[in-house]
Amino acid sequence: MPNIVVVGAQWGDEGKGKVVDVLAPHVDVVVRYQGGNNAGHTVVVGREKYVLHSIPSGILHPGCRCVIGCGVVVDPGSLIEEMEGLVRRGVTLDGNLYISKNAHLIMPYHPALDRASEAKLGPRRIGTTGKGVGPAYVDKAARVGIRMVDLLDERLFRQKLEANIAQKNRLLRDIYDAQTFTVEEILNQYLRYAGWLAPYITDTALLLHQWIERGYSVLFEGAQGTMLDLDHGTYPYITSSSTTAGGAATGTGVPPTRIHGVLGVAKAYTTRVGGGPLPSEMAGPIVDTIRARGNEYGATTGRPRRCGWFDAVVLRYAVRVNGLDTVALTKLDVLDQCETVRICTGYRHRGELLTEFPEEETVLREAEPAYEEVSGWLAPTAGARNEADLPAKARQYLVRLQELLGVPFCLISTGAVRDDTILCEDSPLLEWFPSVRSSLL
Ligand code: GDP
Ligand code: IMO
Ligand code: MG
Repeated sequence: MPNIVVVGAQWGDEGKGKVVDVLAPHVDVVVRYQGGNNAGHTVVVGREKYVLHSIPSGILHPGCRCVIGCGVVVDPGSLIEEMEGLVRRGVTLDGNLYISKNAHLIMPYHPALDRASEAKLGPRRIGTTGKGVGPAYVDKAARVGIRMVDLLDERLFRQKLEANIAQKNRLLRDIYDAQTFTVEEILNQYLRYAGWLAPYITDTALLLHQWIERGYSVLFEGAQGTMLDLDHGTYPYITSSSTTAGGAATGTGVPPTRIHGVLGVAKAYTTRVGGGPLPSEMAGPIVDTIRARGNEYGATTGRPRRCGWFDAVVLRYAVRVNGLDTVALTKLDVLDQCETVRICTGYRHRGELLTEFPEEETVLREAEPAYEEVSGWLAPTAGARNEADLPAKARQYLVRLQELLGVPFCLISTGAVRDDTILCEDSPLLEWFPSVRSSLL
């Protein structure tokens, strides 16, 4: 059974939650491999809306095992809140949720450091979610992080906490002039969390190995997006983890030889939350129109998302660094009322036309988008059950995008609910999960 990575192809919020929820009935396991509760993955089921932050978006399907892999950083308080919220709404977690022993903990000093560092950066701030994700990964790389498994060993947890508190308090007090923490306060709080989470903490790399040996199919759910990747994104305006497909192996312990394909999720336009370059950023009243129609406000922080036209340079880059086999295109309906739709096909910089995404911060800042324009379809796309149902001009837009990317689309999403999902003709999904045909047609 195939094991497939689902990865954001832009700057996050592409609709990964919806796509994972649509595919979850066709797999046995969904695993998150990086990021933390900076993610906000929305799943809409009828009139019910769920926003998942640390728990994989497969959790709404009772038969689907959900794993928080070793590459994720976990804020236990936030995770427990999310778990309680799901249980209150009738979702079963016991036997369905597994948390890696190796996943690192977000400690109370991490959000404090995140916010203090952002405040100090002033106009150069990243615009983080303030959840402490960056500082938690800093500690992981500096080899002073505290892992889930340490929560289960009180003596070791206390030792690690004491060493960290001594160092973090100096940093918070002397560099940032911010509030400090006491060991006892955190210890008591985190030991309570340990009691709650202990039944779910396990060796998930071993479990995944055993499940794959048994023939189970695994979906790897990426958080954030390609352009926020620590290595491949618009550094330093990025998140601190490997969001791209390569992260799926290191962030779970499933070897690359057991991964069979990569599906990218992209919006029919572009959004970004926080600072940093967005070459195809829209200007003028169209921004408000798109933001309102697409409800483009952060699922985690509520911040308005910046909006831009579809950027084929970014998408081609995402195809290359993730090895995308196919793309699920979301939010096509948001463009329904545009008289003209633009596609960014290159960047103009000092008389040159760049068609590959540049690495240099200065070039990105100076680059002007080169657009191709297509006329809008000015008709609703929601409710279409197959590509032939879509307005002709919308179909032309999709054909042009696929030509530019060089990979086929597998799904077209025209609304937040499960039903507003079109399975493309000859969708590569059919080879991976033949049963999607009956569920989506
Ligand atoms: P994620 O972080 O990639 O999972 O995406 P988010 O959940 O942060 O943002 C996507 C938003 O768009 C959510 O509110 C979804 O419910 C919504 N959404 C997903 N697909 C579609 C679609 O095709 N059309 C519309 N209008 N909304 C969609
Ligand atoms: P999902 O999984 C969109 C952005 C933040 C900021 C940068 C760094 O829902 O797509 P961080 O808190 O991670 O240190 O912030 O990354 N960011 C996201 N943008 N969607 C997300 O997640 C994001 N997670 C982080 O806005 O620019
Ligand atoms: Mg999101």
